[in-house]
Amino acid sequence: MYGSPSATFAFFACSFLLFFNDYISIAKAEDKNTYLSKRRSLLQEEWKITTGGGVVLNADELKVNSILMKWKAAEMSEAAKPKGFFPPAYNFMTVKAKIEESDVFRFIKKMPKGAALHIHDTSMASPHWLIRNVTYRPDCYMCIDKTGQLLFRLTKSQPVSSQCKWDTVNQYRSRSGNSSLFDAYLYGNLTIFTDHPAKAYRSQYEVWHQFGSAFQAVEGLVFNTEIFGAYFEQALTELYADNVQYVETRALLGPVVDLNGAVQTKDWAVTVYNEVQHKFSKQHPAFFGAKSIYITQRSKDLVSMMSDVKEAIRLREKFPDSVVGFDLVGMEDQGPTLEYFLDALLYPSQNGIKLPYFFHAGETDWEGMSVDANILDALLLNTSRIGHGYAIMKHPHIRKLLRERDIAIEVNPISNQVLMLVDDLRNHPAAPLMAEGFPLVISSDDPAMWGSTGISHDFYEAFMGLGGAWANLATLKKLASDSIRYSATGQTEKAALYKLWQKAWDVFIKDMLRQHWP
Ligand SMILES: *[C@@H]1O[C@H](CO)[C@@H](O)[C@H](O)[C@H]1NC(C)=O
Ligand SMILES: *[C@@H]1O[C@H](CO)[C@@H](O)[C@H](O)[C@H]1NC(C)=O
Ligand SMILES: *[C@@H]1O[C@H](CO)[C@@H](O)[C@H](O)[C@H]1NC(C)=O
Ligand SMILES: *[C@@H]1O[C@H](CO)[C@@H](O)[C@H](O)[C@H]1NC(C)=O
Ligand SMILES: [Zn+2]
Repeated sequence: MYGSPSATFAFFACSFLLFFNDYISIAKAEDKNTYLSKRRSLLQEEWKITTGGGVVLNADELKVNSILMKWKAAEMSEAAKPKGFFPPAYNFMTVKAKIEESDVFRFIKKMPKGAALHIHDTSMASPHWLIRNVTYRPDCYMCIDKTGQLLFRLTKSQPVSSQCKWDTVNQYRSRSGNSSLFDAYLYGNLTIFTDHPAKAYRSQYEVWHQFGSAFQAVEGLVFNTEIFGAYFEQALTELYADNVQYVETRALLGPVVDLNGAVQTKDWAVTVYNEVQHKFSKQHPAFFGAKSIYITQRSKDLVSMMSDVKEAIRLREKFPDSVVGFDLVGMEDQGPTLEYFLDALLYPSQNGIKLPYFFHAGETDWEGMSVDANILDALLLNTSRIGHGYAIMKHPHIRKLLRERDIAIEVNPISNQVLMLVDDLRNHPAAPLMAEGFPLVISSDDPAMWGSTGISHDFYEAFMGLGGAWANLATLKKLASDSIRYSATGQTEKAALYKLWQKAWDVFIKDMLRQHWP
């Protein structure tokens, strides 16, 4: 009966079942290993494309990395417990002190971070310095206008106005009866700092209102010939203490007045910045220097924008080593858009003139509104970098083109948080950008406005909040070296800056090993 069809069938069925059983049991063993190896290589592929994934650490750096990652893992696993506390998830102004207790933060603070590429010249130095070194001067006057706005002026003679009663700050202070309370009141008006941001600011407009008001107050103190250079020197001192090697400031350049009220030219302001940074670099050979990106307020008409563009061209031609480009500032959502200023912004290229742009663009939550297209216009106008680019994830095509052209985004995590674009920094768009290794640099925008100094707090947020648990020393090294790569320095300068940073980096690695390697 062997030849019968049913027997044949039985045989086949049986061998099939046997085969199938074998297949299942072999596949079971093999499958898990294969699966795990596939899983490992997928993780590796993902890591390779993240920011820093391509960086090869040397033996010393690997040791330092293990120290750093031990601290990081401890902090993150503690934070991930049910009653844990993760600072990047909370408004910076409420967790600053907590961040400063972190070993990871202390590590980052000491680390040479390269360049600060997005930082505004009137919010770089500590307001405490302004209070101590400027408001106690006998020629420093103040008034409070009808809206509650504090205005300051340094002048030889008492200002007179029917709108606002001017007195020396010292008179206000002594009338107040308590100078430390009075100085705290000044601090509150020179910044947006508050222990209760959620109560103080219920919308982006409310926080931007205070932001603008604080700038107006600060500028009354800084934009005076007596203070302008000293404030910049203080800013460089703070950046240097924060282990930053080089800075490109977004610079308003006044108008600066003297004690008689005479208005100085922008050329005067650039010259002072140059003198200060030369002197500072000479005194601190580990500091490379500073350059300016000339900025103007976006809240103006086309005609005045055209004259600002021409002014930027003139300044760049006159000071090619120190004025590197042009940008517009102010709350983007309030407009106008880059498109609105097209005639002015196309003027340089239409006339064969080179004026590099460094546009703030996409600092908005309003997808699809007119300002949301600023990223697109920045790209078309051949911007050198993009300030914030917060809206980038909503524009995948623009993102692709920016990446192809290697145009970096200047990410300012704390700024975006305190100005209320996002609450928990793990949800910041730069998290996916870092995951895909998009060109970016970390900066601090207006650190003095929210009680920060330098760029270390922002680096901490990027390292812990944006980069996730796997961001390591390679990530940090990449962020630091990319800040040099995307800087507006010339070729020779860039090489020299890179060398200077590398030297500081090597010293830092050796120091960390000496202090923390068992
Ligand atoms: C600021 O004040 C401190 C003392 O409060 C002083 O040591 C320092 O020289 C002053 N700096 C400038 C630039 O005026
Ligand atoms: C000023 O106010 C602070 C805070 O309330 C207080 O600690 C300090 O004792 C006061 N100083 C004087 C001189 O009253
Ligand atoms: C700023 O000044 C105004 C006007 O004097 C005052 O009402 C307000 O309390 C001050 N802000 C802070 C935070 O101290
Ligand atoms: C931007 O660069 C491209 C490529 O070099 C050039 O064709 C275009 O004219 C430039 N546009 C502007 C506005 O500068
Ligand atoms: Zn900015």
